[in-house]
Amino acid sequence: MRTQVGIVGAGPAGLVLARLLQRAGIDTVILERRSRSYVESRVRAGVLEHGTAQLLDQLGVGQRMRREGMVHRGIELRFGGESHRIDLEALTGKTITVYGQQEVVKDLIAARLADDLPLHFEAEVTAVDGTVLEYEQNGVRHRLECDFVAGCDGSHGVARLAVPDGALRTAEREHPYAWLGILARSPAAAEELVYAYHERGFALHSMRTPDIIRLYLQVPRDTDLGDWPDTRIWDELRTRLDLPLKEGEILERGITGMRSFAVEPMRHDRLFLAGDAAHIVPPTGAKGMNLAIADVRVLAEALTAHYRERTDELLDSYSRTCLKRVWQVQRFSNWMTTMLHRHEGDDEFGHRVQLAELEYVTGSTAAATTLAENYVGLPR
Ligand code: APR
Ligand code: PHB
Repeated sequence: MRTQVGIVGAGPAGLVLARLLQRAGIDTVILERRSRSYVESRVRAGVLEHGTAQLLDQLGVGQRMRREGMVHRGIELRFGGESHRIDLEALTGKTITVYGQQEVVKDLIAARLADDLPLHFEAEVTAVDGTVLEYEQNGVRHRLECDFVAGCDGSHGVARLAVPDGALRTAEREHPYAWLGILARSPAAAEELVYAYHERGFALHSMRTPDIIRLYLQVPRDTDLGDWPDTRIWDELRTRLDLPLKEGEILERGITGMRSFAVEPMRHDRLFLAGDAAHIVPPTGAKGMNLAIADVRVLAEALTAHYRERTDELLDSYSRTCLKRVWQVQRFSNWMTTMLHRHEGDDEFGHRVQLAELEYVTGSTAAATTLAENYVGLPR
């Protein structure tokens, strides 16, 4: 089998890339190691930047997002027993859309299959050999020959591993805490997202629909879910968020580590890395999916220029272009994380400086704007 661009991974990066290339008349094959139902039910973040939501519209996959997604014009920050609103729309003229990542993935998969374009599930890429992808499906081995390979296979993928030792520089930081996240059938307890800094630790109130909420608690990194029965989770959430939460059935629960990671360059020869395959940000700024989609927009433009205009300038600047945004987003995610979490071993001084930072961010229009313009998404 042959194609122009072989895409490893059917997450937001791989699926959006394929859709962008389809518009440019470029052939792609997507290989995804998991089943369709697995990728469609994997619960992840749910905040779309202004530009991400606009792109999904432009790609013709935004109808359900516009119907079921929730446009939010602000977020709340809670600390010191008070709540402060950051008016995203007043500060930036832009809004965010709350819509689960797996819903975005479902819409993109449905569109791809409706257009009868190749998307293979349970097709695990076992080796990336230059521009040849070796993969296994139903116990049968296959080869896919490509002009280019897009490694959109997430943080545990194979594409990055195919780059020879020494060709990639890595920058990373492990954060000393994790998030315990739940998805619950409960009515939203606030109209907007609530980020809380509490002396017992960070907490977040988010939502998926008016009746399904997504909540997170900062916990130590080695936390065992078994130590967190439902009542303990709800009590802790109520204490930290200070919201009138109604206990509903917990539909999903998990612990997510907090990691910052980026490789450079995001290209090796004809292999291009995009999304989580190239970088991870801690979830505090809700940037993971948005950043993945920003990468593939750059990649799609570069591949389009290659095929249409026979020029490789944009392919050559792909990594440099992406990394500028990657590091702005690393900075923002790291800042939000540090500002909103309790740091073990921190003394009274550290705590007071953190509170002062939060007072400043919510009290100064200049400071609130820096948060807001990053939160709704920096311009391309
Ligand atoms: N062969 C085929 N597919 C693979 C392989 C492989 N060897 N290894 C991984 N994959 C698939 C995974 O099963 C997954 O579906 O690649 C896909 C990668 O998707 P994501 O992890 O969603 O990564 P990405 O598209 O970059 O999106 C980033 O996802 O993890 C979140 O927080 C992150 O929101 C961010 C977003
Ligand atoms: C989520 O809804 O899952 C979510 C929202 C905001 C974040 C992180 C996760 O910062």
